[in-house]
Amino acid sequence: MNKVSLGGKIETAQIGLGCMRITGLNKKDMENLFKTSMELGIDFFDHADIYGGGECHVHFADSIGMNPTLREKIILQSKCGIRNGYYDFSKEHIIASTDKILKDLKTDYLDILLLHRPDALCEPEEVAETFDTLAKSGKVKYFGVSNHNPHQIALLSNYLGENTILANQMQMSITTCPMIDLGLNVNTGNAEAVDRDGGTLDYCRLHNITIQAWSPFQYGFFEGVFIGSKKFPKLNKKLDEIAARYGVTPTTIAVAWLNRHPAKIQTIIGTTNAKRVKEIAKSCEFTLTREEWYELYLAEGKPLP
Ligand SMILES: NC(=O)c1ccc[n+]([C@@H]2O[C@H](COP(=O)([O-])OP(=O)(O)OC[C@H]3O[C@@H](n4cnc5c(N)ncnc54)[C@H](OP(=O)(O)O)[C@@H]3O)[C@@H](O)[C@H]2O)c1
Repeated sequence: MNKVSLGGKIETAQIGLGCMRITGLNKKDMENLFKTSMELGIDFFDHADIYGGGECHVHFADSIGMNPTLREKIILQSKCGIRNGYYDFSKEHIIASTDKILKDLKTDYLDILLLHRPDALCEPEEVAETFDTLAKSGKVKYFGVSNHNPHQIALLSNYLGENTILANQMQMSITTCPMIDLGLNVNTGNAEAVDRDGGTLDYCRLHNITIQAWSPFQYGFFEGVFIGSKKFPKLNKKLDEIAARYGVTPTTIAVAWLNRHPAKIQTIIGTTNAKRVKEIAKSCEFTLTREEWYELYLAEGKPLP
């Protein structure tokens, strides 16, 4: 398993297991998913207070039999800030949500807490005070954001002091990668030149903030999985061709494509299938060539100027 250094602060697996969909598993299958991941070197688990209607933390902790020894072997990340119908970065909400996350996960601390989606009413001074309180109490070691643009990160960072932003979790797959499209289409009239994220990929690299890629197999906003989809015939042909070359599956290649990017992106996979986790882990056993990386990108139908 490849390693990444999140924000230069936490050494962990380049592939993390996202736990958004785990409530569909029974305890035995969840335990198997966890054990398989750990055996493959995947020690990073991504949660959020809203996943599974708020049930994912409890299901995870119960299924794996959370205990202090096990806790020390894993990196736990969770998120807060999305509420029913609005976003909330108030101190009161972040602290209350963190306390519930810790209780549900049966742990005393989170390795990382992310702010899930930008809150228009965010008061950065208040967030800074909140992070400080959580860090000093030992409840959260490190902090990050998700779906944030550079100015939002810079605004927060202006007040954060020692509790710097270590990761920005963004949607990214071969088919849905506006962060890549933007950089490749500068100064063109192509639709891909439209700036959808403020250049967050380069900003994060400049500031040693790790990009975590969510939904690595989905196209659009949860429209479906592109692997095997009739909507992407050229891409699937290319995925099959390259997969055959390396003796792996197209699923492996989709993550190898993310691994190949020099930003050392950490991919957060959402499969609930232990067999697929094994396929995905194989993406760390080889490196796509530059030509293969571009061939996959272009096979989706995107232009190069
Ligand atoms: N920060 C955010 O705003 C945000 C938003 C969404 C998600 N996330 C995080 O990102 C994680 C991953 O998101 P995701 O679940 O949407 O990502 P994903 O890994 O792209 O999708 C996983 C889903 O695709 C299915 N699938 C079908 N064919 C597949 C194949 N060949 N390879 C892999 N999966 C295949 C999986 O089914 P099986 O289970 O049957 O394999 C599963 O339902 C989440 O768990 C969560 O932690 C964050």
